[in-house]
Amino acid sequence: MSHADIIAKTVRFVQDTLKDAEGGHDWWHISRVHTNAKRIAETEVCDTLVVELAALLHDIADSKFHNGDEEIGPKTAGDFLWGLQLDAAIVMHVQQIIRHMSFKSSFDKATFYSLEFGVVQDADRLDAIGAIGVARAFTYGGFKGREIYNPNIAPHLNMSKEEYKNTTAPTINHFYEKLLLLKDKMNTDTGKQMATQRHQFMLDYLQQFYSEVQ
Ligand code: ADP
Ligand code: NI
Repeated sequence: MSHADIIAKTVRFVQDTLKDAEGGHDWWHISRVHTNAKRIAETEVCDTLVVELAALLHDIADSKFHNGDEEIGPKTAGDFLWGLQLDAAIVMHVQQIIRHMSFKSSFDKATFYSLEFGVVQDADRLDAIGAIGVARAFTYGGFKGREIYNPNIAPHLNMSKEEYKNTTAPTINHFYEKLLLLKDKMNTDTGKQMATQRHQFMLDYLQQFYSEVQ
């Protein structure tokens, strides 16, 4: 099968699987990550098939919505890819990328790294910051029934992972806990460059937000 055919089949599988997904993790998130990943991959010497497949399949089954089962994503992706009769090395590499993409493992000590992983992780992080990042954060917060902002719950920078998981902190806090930290975690030069403007937009957004609060 050609590269284009493999990607077209994968796009169809992902669109179909995610047709009822919530707004922050829907097909259009995947589509933006795919586009970002291709753009970054153009500036790196890497396996673009692995990059594109991992970008398309990275949120195919989120453990957050499957009782915390961390293997559900890699397994769903693997089952699909084995059906396309791709090389085992490609399938297993894509599965490793998906396994390590989660927010949880991105703050753990890295146990796996490849350039292809770095590209896809950057592409996913870019969709969590900037104007889209603002929209996704409030969508997720609304989905979880969180407050937008509460002046009595100051943004915490030093929350443990366990506390973070259980917190009902307002969505504004999420900017300080995660979104403003992503710029300095980018893996590739192109990713860093693309993150700069989006990061600045969030700072401007927060400044405007507080000016309206006062
Ligand atoms: P992804 O799987 O796409 O890397 P996550 O599942 O960690 O990202 O989060 C999906 C989106 O929801 C992101 O834009 C993220 O910033 C947002 N999000 C995750 N946790 C929170 C939270 N506690 N408050 C607000 N937004 C959140
Ligand atoms: Ni994602």
